[in-house]
Amino acid sequence: MMKVLQDEIRNLEVDEVLDIATGAGGFIKILMGGFKNFNHIIGVDTSKKALEMGRKNMQDDRIEFKYMSADRLEFDDSIFDIVSVSNSIHHFKDYSEVFKEIKRVLKPEGMVIVNEMFCDNQSNAQLSHVYLHHYMAEIDTIKGIVHKPTYKKQEIIDLLEDEGLKIIRSFEVRDEVFKNDEEEKKEIEALKKLFDKRLKDIEEHERYDEFVGRARDIREHLDEYGIDGATQLVVIAKI
Ligand SMILES: C[S@@+](CC[C@H](N)C(=O)[O-])C[C@H]1O[C@@H](n2cnc3c(N)ncnc32)[C@H](O)[C@@H]1O
Repeated sequence: MMKVLQDEIRNLEVDEVLDIATGAGGFIKILMGGFKNFNHIIGVDTSKKALEMGRKNMQDDRIEFKYMSADRLEFDDSIFDIVSVSNSIHHFKDYSEVFKEIKRVLKPEGMVIVNEMFCDNQSNAQLSHVYLHHYMAEIDTIKGIVHKPTYKKQEIIDLLEDEGLKIIRSFEVRDEVFKNDEEEKKEIEALKKLFDKRLKDIEEHERYDEFVGRARDIREHLDEYGIDGATQLVVIAKI
C-alpha cells in the first residue's frame, strides 16, 4: 500500500513540489496524504483532459495543474524540494531528456520520488494486468502514441542509476484492490469490451490477426485468474 511511501515522507515539511506527468493528480493525492506540511504542489502533464479532471477533483489553493511537457519544463533551475514521477517513465519518448530536466529544476539537496509499476515477479492475476497493459501499449505504438511496455524491476533501478540518480531507498508497493466477485466480474467484462474497441483501431493494420489472437489469449487468462494491479517500485533518490 502507498502508506509505506506516506510514512517515508511523514516528517517532511516541504515548500515546492513538482509532480511530472501528473495525469489527474492521483500521485499528488498520495504525497499530500504523507507530507507533514507543504506549501505548493504543481502537477504538469500534456493531456489537457487529464489536467482538467485534476483541477475539478482537487480544489485546493496549494495545488496547481499546468500544461507542460516533461522534457521541456518551464521552470528556473533549482527551485523544487521534491520532484516526483509516477507510472510514466514508460510513457516518455526519451526519458533521459526528462531526467535532465528533473535534475535541473530540483534543488541540489532535493529529493526525487519515482513510482513505476514493473512486469516481472507478478502473480497470475497481476499478469492479466501486465499482458493487458502491454497489449494496449503496442496498439498505442502502432497508432503513433508513445507507450512502451513496462520495465522489469531491475531495469527501473538500472535506468535511474544510469541517469545519475543516487538511490537512497526503494521498496515494492502492491496496491491491494478489495473487490468482491461481482465487482471483479464487471471489471473483467468492461476490459473485454476494451479489447474490441482497441482492435477496431488497428483493423487495417498488417498485425491485426496477431492482436485478435492475443486478445483471445488474454481473455482466457482473465477468466482463469481474474485481475489485480501490477506491483510498483517506489524509489527515493538524490541527485
Ligand atoms: C499512466 S499516466 C500516469 C498518471 C499519474 N502520474 C499517476 O500515477 O496516476 C501517464 C501520464 O503521462 C503523461 N505524459 C506522457 N508524456 C508526457 C510528457 N512528455 N510530458 C508530460 N506528461 C506526459 C500522459 O499524458 C499521462 O497523463
